[in-house]
Amino acid sequence: MERHITLGEFIIENQKDFPYAKGELSALLSSIRLAGKVVNQAINKAGLSEILGKAGNENVQGEDQAKLDVMANDVFISTLKNRGEICGLASEEMEDYLVFDEDMHKDAKYIVLLDPLDGSSNIDVDITVGTIFSIYRRISKPGTPVTKEDFLQPGENQVAAGYIIYGTSTILVYTTGNGVNGFTFDPGIGSFFLSHPEIKFPDHGKIYSVNEGNYVHFPMGVKKFIKWVQDIDEEDGRPYTSRYTGSLVADFHRNMLLGGIYLYPTGTTSPKGKLRLLYECNPMAFLTEQAGGKCTDGFIRIMKIKPTELHERVPFFCGNREMVEKAEEFMRDNQ
Ligand code: AHG
Ligand code: MN
Ligand code: MN
Ligand code: MN
Repeated sequence: MERHITLGEFIIENQKDFPYAKGELSALLSSIRLAGKVVNQAINKAGLSEILGKAGNENVQGEDQAKLDVMANDVFISTLKNRGEICGLASEEMEDYLVFDEDMHKDAKYIVLLDPLDGSSNIDVDITVGTIFSIYRRISKPGTPVTKEDFLQPGENQVAAGYIIYGTSTILVYTTGNGVNGFTFDPGIGSFFLSHPEIKFPDHGKIYSVNEGNYVHFPMGVKKFIKWVQDIDEEDGRPYTSRYTGSLVADFHRNMLLGGIYLYPTGTTSPKGKLRLLYECNPMAFLTEQAGGKCTDGFIRIMKIKPTELHERVPFFCGNREMVEKAEEFMRDNQ
């Protein structure tokens, strides 16, 4: 029988990527895996329980929170807090970051940034959603409470990042800077198994993903790029195909496997774009680069940006290198 590698085995085997690590990062990834299983279970039976619909609150992003936004946030916080691997956590769903300074956290050197439920407007209509996570080593002195500066690090400081996609199957995809691997959850056994080893964007892509309903608000470079992907060109297979679910995790996952570009540019209604640098763009940028793709704000590398606030938004161009470079060319030429 073919030997299937579990996520747990893989994490332990790859601990050697971090010669200075004492296993805390492995333990932290295991905690994320556990929280992911709990959220997965809740999402799978969401229609049967009382957890569909709105929570009745607005979050700091100005969005109506879904009950599952709140539930996923709570599950990740309590799971991560209950094990001493991190000293702080920030989330799309909370105005401020959390400090964990109990005894069990006093030696913790990692912080986590979280989009607990991505694509939450899709929950009630049974479309794929996800969880996105990003892990940094704190920069403040161990033993002292974590500070805001620990959270406002550029994406290139990430030590690990990934997502869990709750789709037709549930897959956990992550990187620790040594390639990207995906693990599919077997609900009968209750474990994730390596199913997508060493994921790379294909060299050429034919999918573009953008909310074209905002077309009128887009910068001229994006408008011209969209017209270009819709033009006929037999040699490079245009017009390309449009695919957009409204869940970044789903659109990203598909484009990474099949080849494509995802765009969330600026618009007059969202002057800095919509997606959050810390919870969405940086982790996806780390995965993208590790999978051979490119991720910029239309001009500069996402992971180079030094955040100035927790909930900062940035324009987001992400996918196959050649497609992103084509979009950047239009941005440069149409300023
Ligand atoms: P979230 O559900 O975590 O708030 O994220 C929603 C994001 C992202 O998943 C998606 O790509 C984008 O919002 C869709 O925005 P539009 O509905 O404006 O296209
Ligand atoms: Mn949201
Ligand atoms: Mn999101
Ligand atoms: Mn979210």
